[in-house]
Amino acid sequence: MVRDIVVYPDKRLKSISKKIGSFDHTLHNLLDDMYETMCAKNGVGLAAIQVGVATRALIINVPLEVEEGTHDQPKENTLEMINPVIIEKDGAEKFQEGCLSIPGVYEDIERAKHVKVEYFDRDGNKHTIEDDGFLAVAMQHEIDHLDGKVFIEKLSYIKRKKFEKEWKRKLKEA
Ligand code: CO
Repeated sequence: MVRDIVVYPDKRLKSISKKIGSFDHTLHNLLDDMYETMCAKNGVGLAAIQVGVATRALIINVPLEVEEGTHDQPKENTLEMINPVIIEKDGAEKFQEGCLSIPGVYEDIERAKHVKVEYFDRDGNKHTIEDDGFLAVAMQHEIDHLDGKVFIEKLSYIKRKKFEKEWKRKLKEA
């Protein structure tokens, strides 16, 4: 089921999401709905708080190009991360980010280049993953959501002010 996306500046996006203790039907249902919601909105990642659930779950699915201009996000390619923790990070790189909670806004954000993350899958099995490409960016962006942070908070003061002004205007027009 596609769920509603929580849109900035909704206060729920500031929630510190709670650790998940049971890997049960409720969690599986949430993850399945998050996948459907992410695909419906053409996103590459989604944190549970973005559908209003303040628990430490996120999904990432980097689209595959099947033919030129056609992308696919098969469910089996979805990285589901429960209670993820960054255990190592180094380097720095700028990358253009967007967010389903701030649709239509894209900004260059600096983050660690390489991260190593420990997490659990939907069945409670522990895994470790490391990356220094797009996935590293996506993991840091989504883990930030679990701590109540959105990417535009990383903008400079001037850029942030400009964003807030334009966002207010956009919400009024909608
Ligand atoms: Co986001």
